[in-house]
Amino acid sequence: MVSTKRRVAASLSLVAALLAVAAGAAQDDAAGEAWELELAPPEPVNPLEPIEDLGSLSCRGCHETIADEWAVTLHAHAWVDELYQEALKDKRRPQSCHGSHIPKPHHEMPAERFGRKPPPRTEEEGKLVHGITCRSCHGGPDGTILGPWGAPTDAHESVKSEHFVETGSNALCIACHRTTIGPVIGIAKDFDLARLEERGMSCVGCHMHPVERPAATDDDDNPTAVRPGRSHLLQTPRDPAFLAKSFGLSARNVAGKTSLTIKNRAGHRVPGLVDRRIVLTAEALDGAGAVISTVEHTIDATAYLPLEESIDLRFDAEAARVRVTGLHHMPGREEPVPFLDVTLDVE
Ligand code: HEC
Ligand code: HEC
Ligand code: HEC
Ligand code: HEC
Repeated sequence: MVSTKRRVAASLSLVAALLAVAAGAAQDDAAGEAWELELAPPEPVNPLEPIEDLGSLSCRGCHETIADEWAVTLHAHAWVDELYQEALKDKRRPQSCHGSHIPKPHHEMPAERFGRKPPPRTEEEGKLVHGITCRSCHGGPDGTILGPWGAPTDAHESVKSEHFVETGSNALCIACHRTTIGPVIGIAKDFDLARLEERGMSCVGCHMHPVERPAATDDDDNPTAVRPGRSHLLQTPRDPAFLAKSFGLSARNVAGKTSLTIKNRAGHRVPGLVDRRIVLTAEALDGAGAVISTVEHTIDATAYLPLEESIDLRFDAEAARVRVTGLHHMPGREEPVPFLDVTLDVE
């Protein structure tokens, strides 16, 4: 069992809130259940500004759509990110963080080192401002480009790699995201330890939407063949709808009292940053819709929601329906962002 420190945030009303942890949700409620990402690439929600000097990214000449998706992600911004630069100031060995934020290509490392954090690159090896670049993930030995198919092109030698096919990409994501350092929690360890890959789950399955489109334009600027791929726009907790998907909610009455179950539906604990705080407020409503009891619960790094676990919030009353609202306190942002407002029938 995961041993965690949990605390109940101050209850809003006089009503006592009893918090219980239901360890190990039932198998059919496993993380990732019912994650149906629609085929169309979603519009970016709260995108970052496109990264500076995008024009100098050679890959963009033929992979413009993918490059523009990447340009508004925290991967592109991993180096210039103000919160990152701020966090470095308190570190005695800031260079220990650089390998994740300005990495040399993973696949240039000897095969036996794959899966470890890559070494940082220097300015000569590629613009630092571009953070985690195309080459960090796709660059292979001797200038080759690794990808899902090995589709031939004059532009570069393409080599098919298992690290871009189905669950094979987990190893790539986990290589960086297993590291706990500074404000970052190595949440990929949860995914790895729970062997979610054996159930066919993947990081990209939740974080990169499937798309069907040409991956490039050729020398004459014509699109190449339509193929199944993935949007490089990362799905992130800054998107309220995505964050809301972390929580599976259900309410039921037991012996005259209503209980709200909040189940973790992500592929790892929530949240993954020390400064991220999620405040859920649950209101028990009577048949006329009046609030008869309120419970508040905070999820953060110390009171996190472990992978595949759920929490029960108990009301001191029997409700007809339950309304749950959520506020997201994001690092670097003063005002919390509302991300959830649902009213559930009590089962
Ligand atoms: C079943 C869907 C699912 C899978 C699988 C999944 N994630 Fe997530 N991920 C989420 C959701 C939902 C959130 C938003 C909640 C949060 O911030 O923790 C999230 C958040 C994150 C964050 C931001 C955390 C934070 O709070 O800043 C990172 C980084 C991340 N995931 C990486 C990964 C990696 C790497 C893997 C594979 C090892 C992975 N995810 C697998 C659903 C998933
Ligand atoms: C001159 C145009 C051009 C440039 C520049 C270019 N590519 Fe490509 N790339 C292509 C074409 C064409 C394909 C084949 C697409 C297809 O057939 O679906 C391709 C395929 C790929 C693939 C898929 C490989 C596979 O498995 O089949 C990846 C990944 C890729 N490129 C990455 C990159 C990266 C990273 C850069 C920059 C370092 C880059 N490309 C620069 C034209 C280009
Ligand atoms: C070279 C290391 C590295 C690799 C490989 C990597 N990441 Fe990341 N990722 C990072 C860093 C560093 C950040 C955070 C940047 C920051 O906060 O400044 C990040 C951020 C994220 C976020 C949060 C984005 C946001 O806006 O909150 C998600 C989600 C994510 N990565 C998913 C993935 C997935 C999926 C893969 C595999 C396809 C992957 N990462 C591979 C280093 C990496
Ligand atoms: C964090 C790692 C990461 C970064 C950074 C990254 N890619 Fe990818 N890329 C992937 C993964 C993983 C896949 C395979 C997705 C799948 O189909 O499961 C992929 C797939 C592709 C493909 C195949 C077509 C497709 O749509 O899936 C191309 C082409 C490509 N990437 C180009 C690029 C270019 C150009 C950049 C920079 C602008 C880039 N990638 C940045 C991880 C990355």
